[in-house]
Amino acid sequence: MDVMIKAIDVNKEYRRAGAIIRALADVNLEIKSGEFVIIQGPTGCGKSTLLNVLSGLDIPDSGKIIFDGENIARATEDRLARLRRMKIGFVFQDFNLIRTLTALENVESVLWPTVLRTSEIEDRAIAALRDVNLLERKDHFPVQMSGGEKQKCGLARAIIHRPRVILADEPTGNLDPESEKEIMDLLKEINKDSETTVIVVTHREKLTSYGDKIVKMKDGKIQSVK
Ligand SMILES: Nc1ncnc2c1ncn2[C@@H]1O[C@H](COP(=O)(O)OP(=O)(O)OP(=O)(O)O)[C@@H](O)[C@H]1O
Ligand SMILES: [Mg+2]
Repeated sequence: MDVMIKAIDVNKEYRRAGAIIRALADVNLEIKSGEFVIIQGPTGCGKSTLLNVLSGLDIPDSGKIIFDGENIARATEDRLARLRRMKIGFVFQDFNLIRTLTALENVESVLWPTVLRTSEIEDRAIAALRDVNLLERKDHFPVQMSGGEKQKCGLARAIIHRPRVILADEPTGNLDPESEKEIMDLLKEINKDSETTVIVVTHREKLTSYGDKIVKMKDGKIQSVK
């Protein structure tokens, strides 16, 4: 398998009230194309910081992030925005749906503005909603959907542009156990069917069973990779 993302000697500090917090301390990690990776650890250990530097949402103080062959640790903001738009699908703990748009429109919105035809966008959004078993709710607004349904909509939105990588920060943090299983199973299905690399951040030990690779973090450091 090809290397999808590689972090080399990555450091990131925050200063707060005179104290220095090492959010990432000499982090090295290799993620292969098509892998399902779980990054697990207690609150404050640096999981979100790591996910953010892996996707170019945040810039490390030192070290390299090689994303699909390109060092993005020093890329321009324009370049990073383009890379995220083309290659990454994001899934959020609080879903981040636009409340004035229907499920279908929320999914379509990823492709606006675009050179694609309106009918092509709609076909793709419908296919994405079908992939996550949410087609029957396509005309519902977020307020009319359950948490699990909202997150399925979030998944459809994350896959419509056929990204290389899906990044999910606590994607089941606001869900009941049944919906949690459904969302994790869907992520696994997407990972297997389309060979999309999936990286899930969670504090829940239980979810590590989904990973091909399990990365355990503590105090800004990677403790183990299995
Ligand atoms: N913008 C910031 N300014 C100052 N400190 C920050 C900032 N972002 C994160 N931190 C600190 O860096 C450390 C790592 O934070 P991070 O959000 O990556 O942890 P986490 O593992 O995602 O935690 P959680 O499970 O609670 O989401 C924490 O001590 C946090 O307080
Ligand atoms: Mg976090």
